[in-house]
Amino acid sequence: AAPPQQPIGVFDSGVGGLSVLHALRAALPRERFVYLADSANAPYGERAAAQVSARTLAITGYLRAQHRIKALVVACNTATAAAIDELRQRHPGLPLVGLEPALKPALALTQTGHVGVIGTRGTLGSAKFGKLLASLADRAHFVLQPCDGLAHAIERSVLSTAPVSGSTETGALCQRYLHAMGTFGKAPGQIDTLVLGCTHYLFVTDELRALLGPGVQFVETGAPVARQTRRLLETAGLLRNGLREPQAAAETAGTRLLTTGPAAMLQAAAQRWLGLPADCCTGICLP
Ligand code: SIN
Repeated sequence: AAPPQQPIGVFDSGVGGLSVLHALRAALPRERFVYLADSANAPYGERAAAQVSARTLAITGYLRAQHRIKALVVACNTATAAAIDELRQRHPGLPLVGLEPALKPALALTQTGHVGVIGTRGTLGSAKFGKLLASLADRAHFVLQPCDGLAHAIERSVLSTAPVSGSTETGALCQRYLHAMGTFGKAPGQIDTLVLGCTHYLFVTDELRALLGPGVQFVETGAPVARQTRRLLETAGLLRNGLREPQAAAETAGTRLLTTGPAAMLQAAAQRWLGLPADCCTGICLP
């Protein structure tokens, strides 16, 4: 196993996982992170599960071999659904955290008992999600809506000068999919809770909020995933906090961003959403 001073790997198909990285950095300020966006192969959400799984395994192998990560957060619902079980089998010594749509937390919040779930087709159609849904189906009415193209539109909007939530493409897609889900509001029988089942969607919350009004609460996974990561590291004795001074203090906690796609896109997103410096991002070639 890699020692505590090594970075935590964070991986997503693109820029969406930055919302998870944001929560991780807040919860674990002394840790170092290597974030890898597989933007050359995004979006994952409409790809075959076997393809997403192969990418996830290749990226994990790369992060372990080249960056000696001590733990991995799969900051992508689609990749988790397709590959987390195989990852656990192949990397038994690596602390692993995956993402899944936060149905259980939504149960604790809903008053109408009607919960909307938006995500990619890959996530909502996966066997893993099907199992989760079946285990909770008698406790609420879940209305599922795959949002084809929304994650990709969010990626594209990063390079435009308009804020993501001002992009007409993302707005039109949000409107189309929320409309397809049916009614929102506080009355019994209406959806009062919306699970954001894809990390990208956190970046269009303003748009979703404008369309839904204040009566619908959103559930996302960044903060709980960060807490779970902290717990896992603690249990494994891998928290960087545990290092003795001055060893820990000598190394400034850092975040490196890698992308298989255009560096400008990840760079722009990281500056805009996380306030990271302009030189934190590197393009890599990972066949
Ligand atoms: C995508 O690449 O389609 C988004 C995947 C995800 O965050 O679930």
